[in-house]
Order: sequence, then C-alpha cells, then structure tokens
Amino acid sequence: MRILSGIQPSGTLHIGNYLGAIKQWIELQQEHECLFLIVDLHAITEPYEPKEMQQRTKNIALDYLALGLDPKRCTLFVQSHIPEHTELMWLLTTVAQIGELERMTQYKDKAQQFAKQGVNAGLLLYPVLMAADILLYKTEGVPVGEDQVQHLELTRTIAKRFNSRFGNLFPEPKAILAQQGARIMSLKEPTKKMSKSHVEDSYIALSDVPDLIRKKIKRAVTDSGTEIVYDPNGKPALSNLLTIFSAFSGKDAKELVREYRSRGYDIFKKELGEVVARELSLFQQKRKRLENTPEYIDAVLETGRNAARNIAQKTLHEVKEKMGLI
Ligand code: AMP
Ligand code: TRP
Repeated sequence: MRILSGIQPSGTLHIGNYLGAIKQWIELQQEHECLFLIVDLHAITEPYEPKEMQQRTKNIALDYLALGLDPKRCTLFVQSHIPEHTELMWLLTTVAQIGELERMTQYKDKAQQFAKQGVNAGLLLYPVLMAADILLYKTEGVPVGEDQVQHLELTRTIAKRFNSRFGNLFPEPKAILAQQGARIMSLKEPTKKMSKSHVEDSYIALSDVPDLIRKKIKRAVTDSGTEIVYDPNGKPALSNLLTIFSAFSGKDAKELVREYRSRGYDIFKKELGEVVARELSLFQQKRKRLENTPEYIDAVLETGRNAARNIAQKTLHEVKEKMGLI
C-alpha cells in the first residue's frame, strides 16, 4: 500500500498527535511505501510569524526523526517544496463543491474563531489542498486522528468525481485510525479533543520535561467515584487516561483496569505519569542529539523533495492530460 500523512508546523506537537497519527506511521513504514510531509501551506491559513516558519518546519522534521521515522524507510519532505501540490489543488477546486467545503466541521469552527478579523479563503479551500496532497501520490492509506476523517471522506468524493468525469486515475484513499488513541481528549475538559490551542495544562507536549508531565497528569480532572473503570460515556476523564496509559504501555485497557481497579486515582495517576515521562524523555534525548546535526536534517528533506517530486510531476501530467490541458 502507498501511505501518506502530514502535520502542520504550527506549534509544538502533543501526545494526541503522537498517539493518533505518528505512532501509526512508525509501524506502517516497516511494511508499506510511506510519504510523510510537513504541511507548511496549510499552516499559513492561520495567523503566524513569517520569521518563525522555517524553524517550525525544521522542528517538526526533528520530531519526526526523533520519534522514529526512518528516512531509509520513508520519504520525508516539505509540502511547499513541491509546487505540484498547489497546482493540483487548483485543478481540484473545480471538482470540489463550495457546499461540501462549507459543511466541514473544522472550517465551521475556524470560521467562527476568525469571524471578527475576517475568514481567509484558504480556510475554506484547506481540504482541497489536503486532497491534492493525498491524490498527487495516488495514496491508498492515510493514517490520521479521528478529527481528519471528514476531510478524508471529502478526498474520496473528489477522487470518485474526478474518476467518473475524466477517467479512472485515483485510488480512493482510506483513513487508517489508531486502535488506541485516535481521539485523545483534553486533560482539563475530557469531552473536547486534546489540542495545542487550549490551556497549557490540558495537553502534554512532546517537549514537556518529566516533572511537568507528572504534574499535568496529577492535575488532570477525574470523574466522581474512586474505582478505576473504563467507560468513555459515563467516565470520560478516566477512560481518556486509561487510553493514554494503554497506548504508552502496550497493555490493553482491560488489563490496566484489572491491575488498578481498587488502588485509587493517586497511584494510578502516579504510575501513568512515570510511563509517559519515561517514553518522552527517551524521545527528548534523541531529539537533542539530532539538533546538533542541522545539515543531516536538510539532507533528509532534500532527498525527500527529489523522491516526492518525481511522483508528483508524473501524476500532475496525467491529471492535466485527462482534463484536456495537454
Ligand atoms: P494537527 O496538529 O491538527 O496538524 O494534527 C496532526 C495529526 O494529529 C492529525 O492526524 C490529527 O488527526 C492528529 N491529532 C490531532 N489532535 C489529536 C488528538 N487529540 N487525538 C488524536 N489525534 C490527534
Ligand atoms: N489537515 C491535516 C491536519 O490538520 C494535515 C494534513 C494536510 C494532512 N495534508 C494532509 C493529513 C494529507 C494527512 C494527509 O491534521
């Protein structure tokens, strides 16, 4: 299978990004042809500081490598390095419908958030660019968190409509969701997804030092009662902590419930904090070493650019041919 996914360089990554997306990528690269990109053109749909963008992009590249993406097994590249993404996006805007774009939950949320200062058109077209990212490589599987499933469905709609109008070209890509962690919730409001745009105590950044991780987990809200049980509807906070524990420890939630059921929230949280702190501090050590090799990071992205561009140019040529532009 050909696999592709990407993350925006907009601030630090958190454990939701890791458990929902990147952890799967690391497994998938063992057996599939994988492309992972840094979607800087998506990130500029929200306010940002131009001077910081280069560094943010490099930071995500560092995160990818330190978490275990292996440039020998996958292609790592930057979206804006490949002009075919934006060119295909334009072609696909004539296939997507405005009504479909206006119905996207992420668009509706952002349109509300930016209503006062004006909603830029990029926010509406965002999913068409994402469809271009995916279809340009004739991708079959897209490992993402649950919040991206709606965008994936739209990508399938665009692929199907293109194929029936212009002739078969694109496979219909499927979302690949993590069994544990497709939707990690906020530590403060467990009915909302964990997000870097919420208060700092509500998410665990991959860069948080062990003491801060322990503190955030200690302060995480819990549900009423004293028993450790897994019940996402009745006890969303506890269930979220169990999901995180399970994803980091490899033990399933049932096993954890058996182990901790009547030992109380304090011990449960303390041991969860240790598991998360241990894994993230290994990542942080690896990342520190990589920070000293900026030429290596540049070389990885350059190799990725060349490999990705070969595929991208070929597909774009086919698309234009089918659309009668060549
Ligand atoms: P973003 O930070 O929005 O660029 O998201 C990057 C990837 O992380 C996407 O695949 C998202 O679906 C995934 N993701 C973001 N937040 C969460 C979360 N709270 N739980 C699980 N996956 C998430
Ligand atoms: N929209 C995705 C997010 O916010 C990021 C993204 C852009 C993406 N292009 C993609 C994900 C292509 C998977 C495939 O998380």
